[in-house]
Amino acid sequence: MSDISSLQSDILAQVSAVGDEAALEAVRVAALGKKGSISELMKTLGAMSPEERKTQGPLLNGLRDAVTEAIAARKSSLGDAALEARLASEKIDVTLPPRAEGKGSVHPISQVLEEITAIFADLGFAVAEGPDVEFDDYNFTKLNVPPDHPARQMQDTFYVAAQADGTSHVLRTHTSPVQVRTMLNQKPPIRVISPGRAYRVDSDATHSPMFHQVEALVVDEGIHLGHLKWTVEEFCKAFFEIDKIELRARPSFFPFTEPSLEWDMRCDRSVPGQIKFGQGDDWLELGGSGMVHPRVLANCGIDPARYQGFAFGFGLDRMAMLKYAIPDIRSFFESDLRWLKHYGFAALDIPTLDGGLSK
Ligand code: PHE
Repeated sequence: MSDISSLQSDILAQVSAVGDEAALEAVRVAALGKKGSISELMKTLGAMSPEERKTQGPLLNGLRDAVTEAIAARKSSLGDAALEARLASEKIDVTLPPRAEGKGSVHPISQVLEEITAIFADLGFAVAEGPDVEFDDYNFTKLNVPPDHPARQMQDTFYVAAQADGTSHVLRTHTSPVQVRTMLNQKPPIRVISPGRAYRVDSDATHSPMFHQVEALVVDEGIHLGHLKWTVEEFCKAFFEIDKIELRARPSFFPFTEPSLEWDMRCDRSVPGQIKFGQGDDWLELGGSGMVHPRVLANCGIDPARYQGFAFGFGLDRMAMLKYAIPDIRSFFESDLRWLKHYGFAALDIPTLDGGLSK
């Protein structure tokens, strides 16, 4: 009895004396390891008479539990202390001014994202967001693409392993599921844009498996194609920073819009390495759009007899490539510092409509 209690106080003293997790582990092995002092004592139980075991068993178990608990508690306090020390040593002063020799720059995609946000903020749009890993239901079904519908093959989808709760997820193939999220959470009038990442199984000079889109959604009473056209035009003029542009709408198909249109912009690419807008015989694809399908409105709890909407989803990387003459979409995501120095933007210049978007 006194042996056991003196062993216990001995070990507990060692536990509280250790200065780090390695020393604590050594104490643990010496006590509870295969050949540890407590383990050796536990082994003696087998040779005891039943009466002896009845008294010694609980005492030894109590010793083992007390030591195990003390070690666990010490371990977590040492862990906290280690984290505190690390946080203290890694502290940085974020108020320091940038140093000339280590000048950072803004990635063209971030720049374009800010430009687009500034343009739409001026038109009264809010920014909506959704996750990259999206419910299959929001990416497809609520957008009028039921399971097994052939339209699912329009986009090569990255599927995510089945979830325990039975929901299935995908890497969103477009930013359109943010339309669903917005309509489920907001009542009309709705005016949002949603710039963000999208994913498709695709890779070449003009396609990247991860790319960016900007979605726009307007839902209100009396919304018609004229509103869509005006918005696309104003957006393009502001984004490309030219007054004279010419847009062309082609009939298209998307399950979630009816009618559906794709937009092209007139340009001149006859001089290699140069692009001019508003002139020439070439057309540049911007992306898809249309009037929100009544079934999509209804799927999201909005009365299609009362409200109409328009939406578009334009390729953001492609627009950045055009505006800033970047030839290969993949170079955006290679993290090559030389590339970023060449194409990057000054970190403190925030795009505004009156200050100039791209300066
Ligand atoms: N989501 C479509 C795509 O990725 C574009 C689109 C958005 C079309 C909104 C119509 C309305 O191609």
